[in-house]
Amino acid sequence: MKNSYSNIFPFNKKILNKTIKLLNKKSIVCLPTETVYGLAGNAYSKVAVSKIFNLKKRPKSNPLIIHYHDINQISKDVCLSKNFRKLYKKFCPGPITFILKKNKKSRINHKACAKLKTLAIRFPKHKVVRTILKNINYPLAMPSANMSSGVSPVSAFDVYEEFKKKVQLIIDGGQSKIGIESTVVDLTEKPKILRPGIINTSDIEKILKLKIKKKVNTSKIKSPGMMKKHYSPGIPILINQKKFDNKSAFIYLGKKFKYKKNFFSLSFDSNLKKAASNLYKTFRLIKKHGYKKIQIAKIPYRGIGLAINDRIKRAANYK
Ligand code: TXA
Ligand code: MG
Repeated sequence: MKNSYSNIFPFNKKILNKTIKLLNKKSIVCLPTETVYGLAGNAYSKVAVSKIFNLKKRPKSNPLIIHYHDINQISKDVCLSKNFRKLYKKFCPGPITFILKKNKKSRINHKACAKLKTLAIRFPKHKVVRTILKNINYPLAMPSANMSSGVSPVSAFDVYEEFKKKVQLIIDGGQSKIGIESTVVDLTEKPKILRPGIINTSDIEKILKLKIKKKVNTSKIKSPGMMKKHYSPGIPILINQKKFDNKSAFIYLGKKFKYKKNFFSLSFDSNLKKAASNLYKTFRLIKKHGYKKIQIAKIPYRGIGLAINDRIKRAANYK
């Protein structure tokens, strides 16, 4: 396929083999997942892991999520717990990441986990990444495929915008269905949600049959992804807005301003799941249009709305 995006490829047998070859020689590839696109490399390899940090310009203190095909590959790397097994059975493969105690014998490169004694693991659902994981004998370290602190990509073209030709291969797996990053749940002590997502607190509480404390103590940041400035499209964002300033782009729910210039609905029927999946796409679109500022109307604080509010607050660097 020859076009200006000559490093974007559709998924087929030939590309599967090429991807495996690249990963085996410690190169980095960009893969679709059901949440957002990721920048993938062999998690056992210091060379591959260093390349990921360098490409993203990611602070060394921010650990990566390690991706596996299924539960059978993880016992060498992490200590399995009862709560983990329950959540795995219900939600995996799917958009949830578990923080578990690292096994002393783990071969995961210590840079990938920022030298912590814990490890973040995930079992992605997207067919492309699952097929690749099934055909290699190491897990994949895979952060979102964007420059550090920017907006996660939800299509192959978004990834291209981030890295251009700095990566050899981007697999086009279509628009990421979920559109925001996985829920991160810490199971090393009492279960805690470190990053809200589509699988929400009450879904997890139901399975574990316990109550999860609402507020994580942010003075002691446990997950570096909880850094305040994150997911930023690089222009000022104001949240909980009521009045429209006609120089900015206005993001809202519903169809009240459907035909009005400068107004961007996340979902015409105010569906929060659809709104989450359109959020990053809308940020990128607005930036492309050349707007210098984004205003966002209030998004309800319920269900998936919690995850959307988490992302927009960080994007706005709101304290
Ligand atoms: O949906 C996703 O999770 C995507 C796709 C590509 O799988 N990946 C992703 O990775 O969002 P990344 O690197 O952009 O975000 C990983 C988050 C960060 O907030 C990081 O600080 C946190 O997981 N994390 C990783 N290891 C951790 C650990 N041992 N303890 C606490 N947080 C950890
Ligand atoms: Mg990220």
